[in-house]
Amino acid sequence: MSDGNRFPETGTILVVDDVQAVRQVLRAILERKGFRVLESENGQKALELLESLEEPPDVILLDLLMPEMDGYEFLRRIQSHREWRLIPVIMLTAQGDAKLEALQLGASDFLQKPVESAELIARVRAHVRLHQYIRGLEDIENILYTLARIVEARDRYTEEHTERVATYALALADEVGLSEEERENLRKGSMVHDIGKIALPDSILLKPGPLTAEEFEKVKEHPVVGYRILMGAQSMRGALSVVRHHHERWDGQGYPDRLKGEKIPLLARLCAVADAFDAMTSDRPYRAGMPLERALDILRDGAGTQWDPDLIGFALKVFPELYHGTPSS
Ligand SMILES: [Fe+2]
Repeated sequence: MSDGNRFPETGTILVVDDVQAVRQVLRAILERKGFRVLESENGQKALELLESLEEPPDVILLDLLMPEMDGYEFLRRIQSHREWRLIPVIMLTAQGDAKLEALQLGASDFLQKPVESAELIARVRAHVRLHQYIRGLEDIENILYTLARIVEARDRYTEEHTERVATYALALADEVGLSEEERENLRKGSMVHDIGKIALPDSILLKPGPLTAEEFEKVKEHPVVGYRILMGAQSMRGALSVVRHHHERWDGQGYPDRLKGEKIPLLARLCAVADAFDAMTSDRPYRAGMPLERALDILRDGAGTQWDPDLIGFALKVFPELYHGTPSS
């Protein structure tokens, strides 16, 4: 931290540039402001460094032309990585660089070389804040997933039910053909679909015998309770329909809104089939999972009454493979 710097910046900046002198200048400017600086001399080394870090950096400053792995290839790699794709990347560009290509690959910003220190600090600071904010949202998501796990454990699933539901639902989605955004919403929604069960007392959730009508009414509240829990989380917006409508039935006899047929949001219809299949086939402490063929028969019988018949057609095709391949993934 330098003299006169009463409010040091927080955040870690990874500088990727093959020219040592450039790295040194950037390091000096950033460290003077209190940033923590990491360096790599090419994309390959930067990827190895990222692998070794417990916490990703808040910003990456990236040169375009480097030996071993250039900036474009590096961008491509981190954009396809689930955790790293949210790190803002500021490209360090010279005259004549293909900026448009870098933008299309997902770069967040540009700085023209030679870099001017006030501009560097201003840009880096803005992106660090944005990244920390986004990571805060991710933390909320992780809290929600943890909550969903707690529900799953209370519900006495022996293995990762919510993750399997997501896997099955996404396999169906591949047959239907969803956009990347819809797939992501389906994944999130499937992970947290039963989160509203957190409000159910053990006396109902763990009851060995059949539920009374009154108790069943309580259970039927869980989609709306879950919907309310998630309503405040911006990053879960697209997943809300899954949580609210995963117990609707194709014939309109489901809950909570008695939606019928295609009025039921597609993502919720997908989750409903996946959820039912996994609930039938997974082991519980008090009983073994149902044999595959029997579960498929039940899906077949419910096509057009309980579930979307087109989706059952896809399920009969893709579930057997997944069931054998990754029963506990
Ligand atoms: Fe449910």
